[in-house]
Amino acid sequence: MNAPEPALIQSATAAGVSRPHESARAQVAGLATYIDDIPEVRGTLHAAPVCSPVAHGRLLGIDTSAALALPGVRGFIGADQVPGDKTLAAFSHDEPVFAQDTVQFIGQVIGLIVADDVMTARRAARLVKPRIEALPPVLSVHEAHEQQSYVLPPVHVARGDALAALKRAAHVIEGEFEVGGQEHFYLEGQVAYVLPLEQNQWWVYSSTQHPGEVQHWVSHALGIHNHSVTVECRRMGGGFGGKETQAGHLAVWAAVAANHLGRPVKLRLDRDDDFMVTGKRHPFAYRYRVGFGADGRLSGLQLQMLVNCGFSADLSGPVADRAIFHCDNAYFLEDVAVDSFRCKTNTQSHTAFRGFGGPQGVIAIERILGDIARHLNIDPLQVRLRNLYGIGERDVTHYDMAVEDNILEPLLTTLATSSRYAERRAAIDAFNATSPVIKKGIALTPVKFGISFTATLFNQAGALVHVYTDGSVMVNHGGTEMGQGLNTKVAQIVADELGVPFERVLATAADTSKVPNASATAASSGTDLNGRAAQFAARHVRDNLAAFVAGLDACGAGAVRFEGGQVITPRSTRRFDEVVGAAYANRIQLWSDGFYRTPKIHYDKVSMKGRPFYYFAYGAACSEVAIDTLTGESRVLAVDILHDVGHSINPAIDIGQIEGGFIQGMGWLTTEELVWNDKGYLQTHAPSTYKIPTAGDLPPRWKVDLWPEANREDNVHGSKAVGEPPFMLAISVYEALRDAVARAEGDPLAMDAPATAETVLKALGG
Ligand code: MTE
Ligand code: MOS
Repeated sequence: MNAPEPALIQSATAAGVSRPHESARAQVAGLATYIDDIPEVRGTLHAAPVCSPVAHGRLLGIDTSAALALPGVRGFIGADQVPGDKTLAAFSHDEPVFAQDTVQFIGQVIGLIVADDVMTARRAARLVKPRIEALPPVLSVHEAHEQQSYVLPPVHVARGDALAALKRAAHVIEGEFEVGGQEHFYLEGQVAYVLPLEQNQWWVYSSTQHPGEVQHWVSHALGIHNHSVTVECRRMGGGFGGKETQAGHLAVWAAVAANHLGRPVKLRLDRDDDFMVTGKRHPFAYRYRVGFGADGRLSGLQLQMLVNCGFSADLSGPVADRAIFHCDNAYFLEDVAVDSFRCKTNTQSHTAFRGFGGPQGVIAIERILGDIARHLNIDPLQVRLRNLYGIGERDVTHYDMAVEDNILEPLLTTLATSSRYAERRAAIDAFNATSPVIKKGIALTPVKFGISFTATLFNQAGALVHVYTDGSVMVNHGGTEMGQGLNTKVAQIVADELGVPFERVLATAADTSKVPNASATAASSGTDLNGRAAQFAARHVRDNLAAFVAGLDACGAGAVRFEGGQVITPRSTRRFDEVVGAAYANRIQLWSDGFYRTPKIHYDKVSMKGRPFYYFAYGAACSEVAIDTLTGESRVLAVDILHDVGHSINPAIDIGQIEGGFIQGMGWLTTEELVWNDKGYLQTHAPSTYKIPTAGDLPPRWKVDLWPEANREDNVHGSKAVGEPPFMLAISVYEALRDAVARAEGDPLAMDAPATAETVLKALGG
């Protein structure tokens, strides 16, 4: 994408250049293996879920007779067939493996039908008749909050005195708004394939971001030790957070069935079931009171966030926490009080989704600043610039972390200039003055995103590097590949460390029997953690080789260089594979592990203060939109992005992440609408009713630039994490749409997200 291909191959270094994704060719040729492509072992059975048709009720019994009578059906698997704990080994320990006694949302899995083939299983599953006595469901966060129906206790974070600051403020406004959830819509749906091995040991193929947790959950449900379960994941066809915990459910279900029937079992949800069964991005409802001066500077903010968690906690605690950590976004909140309520509703259990609550925090403050600017009739960019974190002053977050690597001001002003923001605002005024139906809007918004898992313990990683006697290299690490290019970057890092061409290094499937206790590949930290661990592993091997060659050439090991597939000393130059062969013959260890843990981070879970993040990733986007005031339809016309990935390990992949994240964020805020009816039934459970962006929705003008500076913290190759931060750049689209609505004399305060055509039309008073 960035550099032409021949240049890629000839490049002296493996890292810092745009190499194609290690699987790109195989993926487009259909030669990359996903779980459902793995050749099936003889005797494999197929499972399909039996789902609750009621949002809340007492489960009195299950009539499976019609299903079991179907030829090819092997059995029904429910709670009674779980040999270990009937509650999933999730952190909150609040979710049954299969519903028992009560059902808590439409789509909750009561059991499985297992059959010889998948279509029979699915047909039979629909013949199972659960007997349910309906109870009143809780379907909205407001209802839940009123009834104090929470999955976890509320959290309050405050700094300074918000009330006093509000009293002092020259202006005060207050408001309420809602931001919808989002379906992950990974191309490969949730799937697990479980094979019995000998002596009650299990092999689990899982499309998961967290093989270690799948291992843990499966062994817990089967009542066996972790070491008896191996989980492998070569790649996912997208995860986006949706496979951080919820891949575990599928694996546990399939394992319970495989255990009971003594046969390999595959469970692959079809798209509709995937929508109905699995959780989504958390929908949020907000209420705020904000004070500010005539210049738009904030003076006091009270913010309430009602988080729709669904029926169980899942990752809702850390997601809601990250929303609190990001409701400042790029701005200094001197006097602030945030109340976060983790509401329990009778819907799917909402889960991680790119940004992990960050987007729901960032959109709150961006929306508030947009409202302030319109209230004062000042350019929203000016209000944003006036409230940015400072350098050496006004630089401590509301959770007590100093913002040490602040590049916000130069980043925003650089983008404002390069995107010609001011001229285009004037041009939009002129356009709108003569255009009665189509109205344009523009917005430039920043992102500051904290990198690290907020749970400090997860910020560790391991890797293995093997050098074979022909000089080829294999790397295995605790991370998972979901399309984001992690394996490519890790292979680049290892190749650079050993001074061998990129093609010499092969990254292999995530496998719990190789690197144990690995954290989820999440929080955008895949390369930071696993790349560094792999770098250390490769460095150990290199050190062994350097000592060996130094012995041969009677020089210091420090004088040995590894470059371009060669090992160079002051006295000689040898080919890497020659050195490896000779080292092997001299019984030198040619493989090693590596371990990394992120430095500097700490944070107190109770007070929610400390330094939860190693560093921040920054970015900004300027989006121009047009709305049709007769239909409410909108288009994104032009997008300029300036994003900070530090020293990029692979610019093509990083730009791909920025583009993909932006478009996914745009979908969240424009066309992707989840609609549950008054019974709690998710009506939008297929692409026919749930619209993700397509190629036709891409902005005709779209420019992505990378910030030129390296990470100021010591991170692998000076890079920064890129997976999630660009998602929030799309908030510029939402703010541009509100700008257009305001210019069309509609009411931007009435425009919740997603800004579907219907929502825009309503905001216009239509
Ligand atoms: N990119 C692709 N193509 N597919 C994905 O599923 N997931 C995103 C992001 N980019 C995702 C993706 C999410 S939610 C995260 S946390 C990061 O990738 C995880 O990978 P990383 O830590 O290696 O960046
Ligand atoms: Mo990403 S939401 O941290 O998997």
